[in-house]
Amino acid sequence: MKFIIETYGCQMNVADSELIISILENYKSLQPEEMFEYTEDINQAQIIIFNTCSVRENAERRVLGRISNEISRKQRDRSILIGVVGCMAQRLGEKLNLKSNKRGIYPQIDFVAGVDQYEKLPEIIQECKKKHKFIAQTTFNYDENYTDLLPSRTNKLNAFVTIMRGCNNFCTYCIVPYTRGRERSRPVEEILKEIKQAGEEGYYDVTLLGQNVNSYRYEDINFPKLLQRANQIDSIKRLRFITSHPKDLSDELIEVMANSEKVCEHIHLPVQSGNNEILKRMNRNYTAEHYISTIQKLRNAMPNIAITTDVIAGFSGETEEQFMDTFNLMKEIRYDFAYMFKYSERSGTKATEFKDSVPEKERLARLQRLIDQQTIITTEKYKQKIGCVEEIYVESFSRKNANLLSGKTRDFKITVFEGDESLIHSFVKVKIIDAVGWTLKGKLIADD
Ligand code: 5AD
Ligand code: SF4
Repeated sequence: MKFIIETYGCQMNVADSELIISILENYKSLQPEEMFEYTEDINQAQIIIFNTCSVRENAERRVLGRISNEISRKQRDRSILIGVVGCMAQRLGEKLNLKSNKRGIYPQIDFVAGVDQYEKLPEIIQECKKKHKFIAQTTFNYDENYTDLLPSRTNKLNAFVTIMRGCNNFCTYCIVPYTRGRERSRPVEEILKEIKQAGEEGYYDVTLLGQNVNSYRYEDINFPKLLQRANQIDSIKRLRFITSHPKDLSDELIEVMANSEKVCEHIHLPVQSGNNEILKRMNRNYTAEHYISTIQKLRNAMPNIAITTDVIAGFSGETEEQFMDTFNLMKEIRYDFAYMFKYSERSGTKATEFKDSVPEKERLARLQRLIDQQTIITTEKYKQKIGCVEEIYVESFSRKNANLLSGKTRDFKITVFEGDESLIHSFVKVKIIDAVGWTLKGKLIADD
């Protein structure tokens, strides 16, 4: 039985999809003709799985739109199964299959599996197929860490390794603690084994994943110590991690980052707001001053570090003055890049109880002001790279210009340059000669 997974949302979902592929493909107790086989061609797939995101309403709407498209495929071939996994599956469970008044919820969905149920997917699918009945399994299992499972990687050069799952922070706007459950860290040795193996298979750039990697702890090993151990693995060349919470980013981590040659000069540190009152209402547990001082420490230790962030415009109760604190903080910090969102109410979260919501039009207008400012800063930051020599991990031909090779700098900037196909999957040095939009243009330089 051929299956496809369409993945939405964060890198954790990308990693989970790789895990699901591995679970299904390695499921042994089936007749040979019933074995699960991954395909990237939806026309061949008998099982279509959507790995979903709930973080903003738009994300859910988009997936529901896609599901509705694929339901027409089922009307042509009734044997096709449609399944939903991930955060939206966890949040809505069997409601996804109910014919309700709400637009976009479909009785044609065959199975729903929550984030801790992926090991049961082979049985869920088989039962669903045999008995022609809808199945939803969404109970949390805080012991579930997907131990001893190696993901089937879909990206050819970069590996994502999950080090912890879940979140205990309960930022008041965020649905994740409800859809992903409580924090749990994977055993150190297992993580190190997975990184080593990824490197041996040619995935030289490894990103450690967790909702809040800084709260990783397994026995007496905290995140900086894990990173230090990972840095010693010979088979990989670059190490990254997402996401860090500013309240937990320790001096110890900054020191380890600065002294570990494989740890790349980039940090993603979501600020969310530049106003202390709003940060408090968001339950972020840090102040703008603390955040700025953390950035200073990072820059003192690693002068060339690239810094990216997430911000939310128009959170409930945000006044124009409070919004300007965010605007000004972004101007002061000068991020290399920012993911900017307008606040989206998520039912069940604490922030929906706050009364004074900002009108939708105003949220959008504020978001646009942030985007306009950041676009200028990002362009300037990229232009500053002109003249620098950068190490590029060559990934492929450029999607926009098939005559150019494309790869990333250590600080996560896409760089294109002229070169031979044989350079793909290697590390080269280029001199940056131009910056167009958010792409650097380089010229290959000979190795001394
Ligand atoms: N509305 C808007 N943005 C949100 N995020 C999380 N929840 C919401 C929400 N309800 C953003 C945060 C987070 C990123 C992954 O998504 O900025 O860091
Ligand atoms: Fe959501 Fe906050 Fe947890 Fe991040 S730290 S996943 S924003 S609750």
